[in-house]
Amino acid sequence: MNISLNAPAYVRHEGLKKWVAEIAAKAKPASIVWCDGSEEEYNRLCAEMVQSGMLHKLNAEKRPNSYLARSSPDDVARVEDRTFICSENEADAGPTNNWIAPSEMRTKLDTLFDGAMAGRTMYVIPFSMGPLGSPIAQIGIELSDSPYVVVNMKMMTRMGKKVFDVLGDKGEFVPCIHTVGAPLAAGQKDSVWPCNETKYIVHFPETREIWSYGSGYGGNALLGKKCFALRIASNMGRSESSETSPGWLAEHMLILGVEAPWGKKYHVAAAFPSACGKTNFAMLIPPAGMAQQGWKITTIGDDIAWIKPDASGNLRAINPEAGYFGVAPGTNKSSNFNCMATLSQDTIFTNVALTDEGDVWWEGMTKVPPAHAIDWQGRDWTPELAKEKGVKAAHPNARFTVAATQNPVLDPEWDNPEGVVIDAFIFGGRRSTTVPLVTEARDWAEGVYMAATMGSETTAAAAGQLGVVRRDPFAMLPFCGYNMAEYFSHWLELGEHLEGSGAKLPKIFCVNWFRTDEDGKFVWPGFSENTRVLKWMLERIEGEAKGSEHVFGITPGYEDLDWNGMDFSIEKFNTITSIDAQAWRKEFELHAELFERLAHGLPDALIKIKASFETRLG
Ligand code: OXD
Ligand code: MN
Repeated sequence: MNISLNAPAYVRHEGLKKWVAEIAAKAKPASIVWCDGSEEEYNRLCAEMVQSGMLHKLNAEKRPNSYLARSSPDDVARVEDRTFICSENEADAGPTNNWIAPSEMRTKLDTLFDGAMAGRTMYVIPFSMGPLGSPIAQIGIELSDSPYVVVNMKMMTRMGKKVFDVLGDKGEFVPCIHTVGAPLAAGQKDSVWPCNETKYIVHFPETREIWSYGSGYGGNALLGKKCFALRIASNMGRSESSETSPGWLAEHMLILGVEAPWGKKYHVAAAFPSACGKTNFAMLIPPAGMAQQGWKITTIGDDIAWIKPDASGNLRAINPEAGYFGVAPGTNKSSNFNCMATLSQDTIFTNVALTDEGDVWWEGMTKVPPAHAIDWQGRDWTPELAKEKGVKAAHPNARFTVAATQNPVLDPEWDNPEGVVIDAFIFGGRRSTTVPLVTEARDWAEGVYMAATMGSETTAAAAGQLGVVRRDPFAMLPFCGYNMAEYFSHWLELGEHLEGSGAKLPKIFCVNWFRTDEDGKFVWPGFSENTRVLKWMLERIEGEAKGSEHVFGITPGYEDLDWNGMDFSIEKFNTITSIDAQAWRKEFELHAELFERLAHGLPDALIKIKASFETRLG
């Protein structure tokens, strides 16, 4: 069968056209559509999906121009056990990634992709990760047989025709190929959420290719996000390091702007594992008293940061994305007012509940749940069912997709091609015990140690067991596209290089908002109150705030934080800042396990720091 390539005249890149034709010959779609990123295209595809049952249009009065998608129950999260880094050498993928030899994987993919798009349209989706033309941005082209992917990519990236102008006739792009893996025979009725039990999320770091088979879930199918902006980009950033250049970083970090009352603006990049409140932190509203003093927080990004040194050695960051693909459950007007405002219209929801008024609902959205709703699997749901049988209205990893431009506190610099200068890095895990509220690293290397050994309790963002502590170095465990030990070296070397050239490095802090009391309740209220911790960090940068030194860094005393307008006892403060030597001895044993696992290529500096911490602990 001959499929018409249909390339518009403005596509001048012959290599790209050849590649599209090759994939089409293999996957055998019924037709090819080149996406232009227009509103008209977005509305047309949404209307088609409403027709096919894949999207449900929400009540336009309650939630204008918004839709609900319900996924297949077995396609609700990232599939880490089906995610592969197929480097030429197994050691380059490292022990934390799944690896299959590239030739073997290519044979597998050849079979899987043969006719995989039959009966469907293959969309050609041009996108830029980062502001178009930015020295830090990169271009990707995703081929996908999912219209859901197209409309999500339109919100999540700078997508459309303009990308071809930047690409020109020879520009480089990352080829991304995605199929839901559900070919249609002639006349066969489509399911509302096509996918396949078999799933492969595959990265070839040397050739910078991404192949995704069998899933329609965002983290597996919107290939600009985790696959490109983290796994492939982390490889790019490291491979561009040399004797003369420190390379760059692709990180699982939000970026925020903070205006302090003393008239200075700061930029902070913060890494947290999935579903640990990154979006909330990125849209933080300072407590009323602090806002009155002049504290203001604005969002640059909520999930991913690309960070490159500029000519003066400052680390400059951009948000490669253009939208938010966030976790809905738990989001409400008090946990994240700005997010709720962002979602008031033009949003695609996935796996939340549908109310009888045609609006959305999820656990934690309102104190009083609706008396009846349709749950994320399309079944009747009532609060009684929840109470008696524990049935959730929304899936715990239910998501929203929305353009960043709808965020009322979007930072004016969010789209600046030059990025913003980072003043501090924050690393945080979800730990009910052991890890104190906040610690400042004494230097870059000790900060790298703290980030490298970070642990966190698992969440619903990935398929698998919930609530177990696993080491999640830099919150990058599922996203680092190469050997984690080398990733640590890359961070250390970048720091050395910049310090050596006289640059001032950002300070590194470690936080834990999640310590609980004997009843398992969170002690620290978090959310807005986290601004108090942020204030302490910025005052530390200015050399203004005090703190006391302990085993692995510096933490504030009770009197070092601003408690104005907050009632939080010193006893409670001690509960969340105490360092239990016994627990830390155990913690260091877990660090040792991690280091053993990563022994191949593990930087000596980290082993030395561990020994010095243990000596201090006694
Ligand atoms: C995400 C994740 O979707 O980290 O951002 O899983
Ligand atoms: Mn994430």
